[in-house]
Amino acid sequence: VRKILLIGIGTGNPEHLTLEAIAALNTVDVVFVLEKGEEKADLAALRREICARFIQSRTYRTVHADDPVRDPQVASYGARVDAWHDQRSVMYEQMFARELSETGTGAILVWGDPSLYDSTLRIIERIVARGHVPIDYRVIPGISSVQVLAARHKLVLNRVGGSVHITTGRRLAEGFPEGMSDVVVMLDGECTFMQLPEDDLLIYWGAYLGSERELLISGPLAQVKHDIERVRAAARAKNGWIMDIYLLRKRTHA
Ligand SMILES: C[S@@+](CC[C@H](N)C(=O)[O-])C[C@H]1O[C@@H](n2cnc3c(N)ncnc32)[C@H](O)[C@@H]1O
Repeated sequence: VRKILLIGIGTGNPEHLTLEAIAALNTVDVVFVLEKGEEKADLAALRREICARFIQSRTYRTVHADDPVRDPQVASYGARVDAWHDQRSVMYEQMFARELSETGTGAILVWGDPSLYDSTLRIIERIVARGHVPIDYRVIPGISSVQVLAARHKLVLNRVGGSVHITTGRRLAEGFPEGMSDVVVMLDGECTFMQLPEDDLLIYWGAYLGSERELLISGPLAQVKHDIERVRAAARAKNGWIMDIYLLRKRTHA
């Protein structure tokens, strides 16, 4: 059967690729690239650089496709994402059948690590469940933005014996997670930290982590939140896109 490798590629620095990922890349016949978002030119350039730099042992092809757009007509967020996953899975399924021989190996290069806020695994599971195009698949972990954030700020994410909560800007807007003192926030296009009661909170923020444009700001939320908002807006305007992540830490340990 066709073999599909989901390879975590880190979040912007080719040197964050693991040796396992490089070995896996060197078994690949076709690299599938789904283009998406405003950042797509920059991200595609990084993917190209990774392939050119690390695939040495064989010839491979790259196949590009445009990511289907989420249908704004579908009212609920859940249904919209579900329909979009379906479209993407059909698209991948057709590409696998068309572009790979029955014993061929394909790779999908996944930003960061496939285990965090990434739909690729769910899409592959749909293809396996449908069974139209039989595949074997494997996941090769990558360094996620959470790890780069922690490393750059020299942080242990949990307090001694404590928990870490990972969430989205959309969820944080509903309130600071109850009972938690250490919260990592991803996918926040709205600077949701601006709305939080700030007395007791520290923030460790990072954008474009791993890349040459990397930005870092940290401190008491009350003191630095306006700086972050300003720096973020300026960087976004300059580059046309931004990816940022932050840890919110209560000074008083819950
Ligand atoms: C769709 S999720 C993908 C996460 C990815 N799978 C990972 O392991 O980091 C995208 C979110 O990850 C975070 N992110 C990804 N790359 C980043 C980077 N280079 N710098 C800062 N945050 C990043 C941001 O919060 C962004 O909104």
